[in-house]
Amino acid sequence: MRTPFVAGNWKMYKTVAEARHLISELVPGLQSIAGVQKVICPPFTDLLAAAALLEGTDIGLGAQNLFWEPSGAYTGEISPLMLAELCQYVIIGHSERRQYFGETDETVNRKVQAALSHGLTPIVCVGETLEEYEANVTADVVSRQIHEGLAGLSLGEDQVNMPLIIAYEPVWAIGTGRAATADGANAVVADIIRTALADLFGDEAAQAIRVLYGGSVKPENAREFFQQPDIDGALVGGASLKADQFIAIVQAAVP
Ligand code: PGA
Repeated sequence: MRTPFVAGNWKMYKTVAEARHLISELVPGLQSIAGVQKVICPPFTDLLAAAALLEGTDIGLGAQNLFWEPSGAYTGEISPLMLAELCQYVIIGHSERRQYFGETDETVNRKVQAALSHGLTPIVCVGETLEEYEANVTADVVSRQIHEGLAGLSLGEDQVNMPLIIAYEPVWAIGTGRAATADGANAVVADIIRTALADLFGDEAAQAIRVLYGGSVKPENAREFFQQPDIDGALVGGASLKADQFIAIVQAAVP
């Protein structure tokens, strides 16, 4: 009942010229795949060109961050109002932002609220660091990230098109080639993330919200994750920069 969802997080890669080239390679392959929602999240500077190239396709577009104010004297920031003209999704609270740019559960919360109030669907990232994993505190960390990052939200009544996506990305699995095991990731999603979502939004909503896995997803391991009952797709970093690999991952998500 939850439509599979695969998003590519391009991170800080691709100039406009390179983005045009990659999108021209992606569109024919992705367009022919039905039954999966697919989204690319390039850098801000590529969004305008990407939006034009994706017009008329069923490929969604997202940003990788935003600031919570709609406008104002915030040099260097990008507002939800600006993004809403260009794209439908926004990644919030990626571990690289938490690690290098001081993002906290509190700022994640403000950003998620701002995205929702401008009609953007947030893709909210949670996940434990290697240190936390080894200290056996994954449940505490991920549960706190969900409770505090999503506190006070109102998701509306439409349980089919929940305007919220969660990505479970164990930090030790990102860009390392060391993916989590599929059943280990599924257990975190089922036992920790959906439980926390149920606390906040009720059981029905917790079952309706898509939860993705992220961290070293490749064409070779994607299907294993997608076969798990509580994992609804992937947030793909490195492999989303290669058209053939991203297309293969999306193909693996077809139910
Ligand atoms: P990776 O990145 O697929 O390169 O591990 C995932 C992410 O950071 O979203």
